[in-house]
Amino acid sequence: MTNTDMRPRLGAVALSPAPEGGADPAVVCAGLRKRYGEGATAVHALRGVDLTVQRGELLMLVGPSGCGKTTLISVMAGILDPTEGSCRILGQDMTALAPRPRAAFRARNIGFVFQAYNLNPALTAAENVSVPLRICGAPVREAMRKAEAALDMVGLGDKVESAPGDLSGGQQQRVAIARALVHEPQLIVCDEPTSALDHANGQRVMELLRRVGTVDGRALVIVTHDARIFDFADRIAELDDGRVTRVGTPGALAGAGHGATDPGPAPDGEDMPAVAPCAGPVDAAGGAMADAPHGGNGCRPSAARP
Ligand SMILES: Nc1ncnc2c1ncn2[C@@H]1O[C@H](COP(=O)(O)OP(=O)(O)O)[C@@H](O)[C@H]1O
Ligand SMILES: [Mg+2]
Repeated sequence: MTNTDMRPRLGAVALSPAPEGGADPAVVCAGLRKRYGEGATAVHALRGVDLTVQRGELLMLVGPSGCGKTTLISVMAGILDPTEGSCRILGQDMTALAPRPRAAFRARNIGFVFQAYNLNPALTAAENVSVPLRICGAPVREAMRKAEAALDMVGLGDKVESAPGDLSGGQQQRVAIARALVHEPQLIVCDEPTSALDHANGQRVMELLRRVGTVDGRALVIVTHDARIFDFADRIAELDDGRVTRVGTPGALAGAGHGATDPGPAPDGEDMPAVAPCAGPVDAAGGAMADAPHGGNGCRPSAARP
């Protein structure tokens, strides 16, 4: 993949019009709590999170494994309801929406890159990327043309016809990123988007996400433990045991020592073997429908990890 492969060319194609950036912050979380299960076995994944993401901002979430990053990002993307507290996304209280308008809101406004990619193995790469556009009502040919342009943008212009199972883990991850970008959503939420990418591809994907995801009042939230990409962030929020412990610029937090202690997977680039694709149900934003940040579609995050 060359640098020119990664140029954001979405602006050159006539994508479905995204709503104008409004005055509201991209995300406002207030007093968020999330509990899985009941009684003695209950897991308190979020224990009171207050966090705002401004439009035009790239916020990273870091912290040790199990501290609640995926849970928080899932609430921020409107695919998981908190047990207590509120989360306004682009000015909209998601819990106030019935399931169908909520799915439509997500489809139009939010792009989600899952830790386990969640590509449909029965569809080609281009068909996978076209899903958000199709759900937004784009005709097949237009959706496919834009999907192919988005794949070209992430350096996979020669893989449009490939099935996910024939792609490496890193390539599948880039298909998932193209799917999150293709409809130019106002909010892009990514769970470990560079975990399967080598250094060069990780940097290029971040340059692309940063350029496409923070213009025109858009915002980007990225969960990562990949220290090589911290400098792309405007701010980094550190989580520990379901709470935000620190928020600051990469420089300020680097001076104080990052709390990103999750060792995570070693990036393994293009030569890594393909991982088994996830076949869970996909919602309008390309998101798993189950009420769980992971596991709900039978795909544990570890499925995507070496
Ligand atoms: N669907 C679920 N059911 C029960 N517990 C869960 C579920 N999803 C996550 N958890 C638990 O919630 C806590 C936070 O998980 P998660 O948000 O995935 O953390 P992280 O992404 O930081 O590793 C962990 O203890 C995890 O085991
Ligand atoms: Mg996680």
